[in-house]
Order: sequence, then structure tokens, then C-alpha cells
Amino acid sequence: MARLNDNYLKLQAGYLFPEISRRVNEFTSANPGVEIIRLGIGDVTKPLVPEVLKAFHAGVDDMAAEQSFHGYGPEQGYSWLAQTIIDKAYKPLGVELETSEVFISDGSKCDSANILDIFDLSCKVAIGDPVYPVYNDTNVMVGRTGAADENGYYEGIVYMPCTEENGFTPQFPAEKVDIIYLCFPNNPTGTVASKEQLKGWVDYARANDAVILFDAAYEAFITEAGIPHSIYEIDGAKECAIEFRSFSKTAGFTGVRCGLTVVPHALAGTTASGEKVSFNQLWNRRQCTKFNGVSYPVQKAAAAVYSDAGWAQVKEVIDYYMGNAAIIRKGLQAAGITCYGGVNAPYIWLKTPGGMTSWDFFDKLLNECHVVGTPGSGFGPSGEGYFRLSAFGDRANVETAVQRIVEKWGK
Ligand code: MLT
Repeated sequence: MARLNDNYLKLQAGYLFPEISRRVNEFTSANPGVEIIRLGIGDVTKPLVPEVLKAFHAGVDDMAAEQSFHGYGPEQGYSWLAQTIIDKAYKPLGVELETSEVFISDGSKCDSANILDIFDLSCKVAIGDPVYPVYNDTNVMVGRTGAADENGYYEGIVYMPCTEENGFTPQFPAEKVDIIYLCFPNNPTGTVASKEQLKGWVDYARANDAVILFDAAYEAFITEAGIPHSIYEIDGAKECAIEFRSFSKTAGFTGVRCGLTVVPHALAGTTASGEKVSFNQLWNRRQCTKFNGVSYPVQKAAAAVYSDAGWAQVKEVIDYYMGNAAIIRKGLQAAGITCYGGVNAPYIWLKTPGGMTSWDFFDKLLNECHVVGTPGSGFGPSGEGYFRLSAFGDRANVETAVQRIVEKWGK
């Protein structure tokens, strides 16, 4: 029999979101007819905006005629989409990029996992705690870790606890690492990093020959001026950082699938013999071999996000979700429930009432209020005692959910 990858067996539980679905399905089968309000997984609920749909349809129509039909596209994505992203999303931030530094993909979840292909297994990794579980689990899967200890920390990973005491901001790793995952605006805590804080990380990475994997999937939800939307707003970041972005939450593409990864030419790693080689060259090679690009109609739809009319419509939806975030945050805070985030991110990170464990609160919220959220401990041991609510719901549902939580646990 073929030997399997037993690193997978080190993973302690099923992936967080399917586990939540399993519990919710169990509840709904036992309680048919009970309506559940879903504020768990950060999945959007508003449809694609009209400008994006128009371009999507036009892209499909192009596929119907010989002259405009598109077969295999470039593995890196069409350069017209990369150029649009550079012009509309990066230039306004003062960031200059070349199209060959922008790789269009089917989403930043896949990219933030697949990027490990271009790093040696010996690289030491630092990860925030709590954090988007993909970073941790994919490092376990590739065999970079030993087993998990009784707290859920895997041997070989350097964890950077993000707690109430440090404002949910990771501190520099206590030991030398090669790869540092940063996610701002943060999933799950909803906190952001200032320019000074990001500069600190860029300076640290350059001084320590580390690469920052910067997940900016939620940058479009920043509402406060002065908060960086890209790590490349910081001088020197092109020499030490890879950035992931997504159309999923920004433009409702969770079911459409489109994201991008920026791998600057200036970012180099070393070979076994100490020679410097650009990571861009390796990522390009990886994508050419393992990926056949995002479909043409999807890339047409993605480009329309950045048309003037498209962006105005997309922004309206983002504002709607951030309106939900404000309702959740203010409603809970007024009722004496401690919570964070929800100002520059679509997530609210609340302290469970009465010191309940995250999963106990999940079960109570589901059974007694018929509301689904995400247990903080599912994002890492330091998330224990916290709970994440997503702002991507329907307004009336969000108001009802807040009212039920406040009635039950408000002071
Ligand atoms: C989340 O809820 O954390 C996200 O929706 C998960 C994802 O983007 O893959």
C-alpha cells in the first residue's frame, strides 16, 4: 500500500468552518423549522454588483464566438487585469509594481497555502495566535512541524500571541525565523496595524533576512485614514514581503473565485549554496506548472470591480457590511459586552460572557439564540474565551442577532 502523508494526521481537529457546519447541520436536523442566523464564516450575502455582472456576462458571451473565444489564458492572469489592479489599487497608495509581479489566482486562501511550495522545509515560521487557520494547518501538512502539545501549539512553529494585553498585535518573535505571517486588517480579531507598526515589521524582516507573508484580504474594509492598505506602502517592503489580496470579501467573489498575489522582483531567497534567487521566478515556475489560470469571464468581472461605476457599487456594499459591523459592535458594547474590531474590518471579536469557553458559547448561542458565530479557540489557543461575529449578514438578521445576544447576556 502507498504510504500516506501522515503529517495530515497531526492536525488536531477538522478544519474550523466545516466543523461549524457539522454542528449547525446537526442542530437543524434536530430542530426543523428553526431559522438560523449565520454570522460564522465570513461569507458574503449580497449579490455581485451590476457593473461586475455586466462584465461577467460579456465575458461569457465572448466565449460564444470564434473571434472572441478564449482558451487557456496566461497562468499568471491576463496582463490587462494585473495592470488595472496596479493602476487602481496600488498606484493611489504610491506603490509602483510591474505586471510580472502580480499573479492572478483563484483566491488568497489557496495562494497563502500554496506559497509554501517555494520555501525550503527548513524555514522557521512565525504565526500569530489567534490566526486564520490556513497558515498553521498548511505548515503542519507540509511537514514543517512536530505534533501539537496539550495547548494546541505545534512543535517547530513560533507562535506570536495576540491578546487583549498587547492590543491583539503580534510582538517580534523571540527567536530567529525565516517566514512571518501577518494579516491586517486581522482575521479574526479585526484589528489593524499602523504605518509605524508595519515599518517595524519591515525593518525587522530585513534585519533578520525573513520574508513577511502579508495577507491583506480585508484591506477594502479599512475606514480610518492613515491605516496602510498594503505592506508596500512601507519603504523596503518589496525586498521582504509577499502580499495576498482577494476579490472575495471586497466584491462578493467568494463563490466566483479570484484573488492575487504580489511577489516583487526585489524579493530574493538563498539557495543551498548561498546564491541569491528571486522568489518571483520560483512562484512563476510554480504557477506555470501547477495552475492554468483563472477563467476569462471571471477576470473580466474582476476588472470591472475597478471601473468607476463598478467601484462605486462595490463600495456601497462594503459600506453596508461595515454598517452591520457598527451595529454589532455598538450594540454589544452598550450592553456591557467587551468587543474589538468592527471599525476597519468586517469582524467583531468579543469576549465570551461570564468567561465561558469559546465552544460553550458557540453551543449556547446556537441552541438558545439560533445564531451562529465562530469560536475564538478555533483560531488558536489564545483565542480561547473569545468569539468572532461576521458582519457579512443581512441587516435585519444582524439586528435580530444583536438583540438576542443583548437580551440574554447584556448587563
Ligand atoms: C473566514 O470566515 O475566516 C473566512 O471566510 C475564511 C476564508 O476566507 O477562507
